[in-house]
Amino acid sequence: MTLLLFIHLLAIGIWTGCVATEVVCELGQKTLSFKDRTIASLHWNIDKFVELPAIGFAFITGVLMLQHAPNDPVLTLKIIAGITAVCLNLLASFFIYKRYQCFIKNDEAGYVKYDILHDRVGVGCVLSITTAIVLGGYYLVS
Ligand code: HEM
Repeated sequence: MTLLLFIHLLAIGIWTGCVATEVVCELGQKTLSFKDRTIASLHWNIDKFVELPAIGFAFITGVLMLQHAPNDPVLTLKIIAGITAVCLNLLASFFIYKRYQCFIKNDEAGYVKYDILHDRVGVGCVLSITTAIVLGGYYLVS
């Protein structure tokens, strides 16, 4: 295993761990009233300090490995799913940032709008990350 691939897989592990933890935290606070929700700042801090840097490392190492990557259909599909996951997660993080801004301004309507937008994009994130993991794992062991 090359150092680039090791960093790629480690970064994806950290990224996926953040997403799984955030899903649990988000679902755990859905029934709380607007004022009692700590998820807005918690989720934005996780994104800012852990998830977005991990996505950055996963993407940069992926791009650096592209030049030597074999022309394989499974790997190509994996890379498409991976790039989709990066794009959707960046959009999801933008909605998380906007939701946090609404929370600190006490703008409940804005908070609800970005909360719904985040949940919808979040489904796409989970599906594309899962697809990339399954295809990447299959490519790795086959
Ligand atoms: C959630 C996102 C991603 C997951 C789960 C993922 C998973 C993996 C896995 C498991 C491998 C090891 C396969 C192997 O080399 O045997 C791998 C390798 C690789 N990935 Fe990703 N990846 C993701 C995102 C990306 C992105 C965004 C890119 C490109 C921009 C990318 C490009 C590559 C390349 C070029 C390799 C090396 C293939 C080779 O030479 O063998 N990956 N990835």
